[in-house]
Amino acid sequence: MEIQELQEEIRRKKREKDVVILAHYYQQPEIQDIADFVGDSLELSRVAASAPQGTILFCGVRFMAETAKILSPDKKVLTPYPQAGCLLADMAEPRQVEEAKKAHPTARVVAYVNVYAEIKALADIICTSANARKVMEKIEGEKILFVPDRNLGAYHARAVKGKEVLLWDGYCPIHERITPASIDRVKEKHPDALVIVHPECPPAVTEQADFVGSTSQLLRFVEESDATCFIIGTEAGILHQMRKKAPDKEFLLPDPIPVCDQMKMITLERVYTSLKEDIYPVTVEETIRVKAEKAIRRMLEL
Ligand code: 13P
Repeated sequence: MEIQELQEEIRRKKREKDVVILAHYYQQPEIQDIADFVGDSLELSRVAASAPQGTILFCGVRFMAETAKILSPDKKVLTPYPQAGCLLADMAEPRQVEEAKKAHPTARVVAYVNVYAEIKALADIICTSANARKVMEKIEGEKILFVPDRNLGAYHARAVKGKEVLLWDGYCPIHERITPASIDRVKEKHPDALVIVHPECPPAVTEQADFVGSTSQLLRFVEESDATCFIIGTEAGILHQMRKKAPDKEFLLPDPIPVCDQMKMITLERVYTSLKEDIYPVTVEETIRVKAEKAIRRMLEL
């Protein structure tokens, strides 16, 4: 089937089957276009928690679909391709986090949403890139163990006063490859471009950027800014919504272009098959789910 035909079929089927399709900004443009809601991790978890439909089809990597299932245990949550994982999430193993908790018994565990359910269950509270600073400020206690993204943790910890933040040694390999040199190669040809980046980028990048924010904060920034040309330091998928929201502005990516192969494992064909055949349902073991839900709801209540 051609792309448009497939998109029409998906739209028809989701209405017929009472399915809501959620997609992260890093998804391919043709998938974002069939989604009922496109957003960042925080927005998507809010929508997943309140969606009235009986089934959520989540276009994103596995931990995102898992978060939706944790928040909506009575709904069917489908992932079009369960093998789509997250290299950052893989950097924190439950046993290692348990050991770190034992080594730092007074520390509160703040887990970035980019972890699997078992780690969420070990955390006191979850955060996303959009609210990490607020979560660190609001959590009681003076010591925080932040897992698993050292870059995001370090960026937000800089602004948090009076707390000691212990950083896990994890990182997103896609954002880690965004270096000052990869930005400078583009900036040389576009000296007036504003550099706006995701907090998962290394400190050498966030320290020099004109703006740092989550994907939806970056999107809002380009819409509201008077500038007309931007170098975007995050995964390439975000450009689709930027071009839609600000069609007269120019969006450039670092060189080499940051692309998450895991996110791109979700294809239109796989979305269609998932919808048609009700595969692949996400499951989370109940005792883990209950603990993980508590940590996520604490974040949503802030
Ligand atoms: P946000 O959705 O919070 O912007 O984070 C995206 C992400 O997962 C980066 O890897």
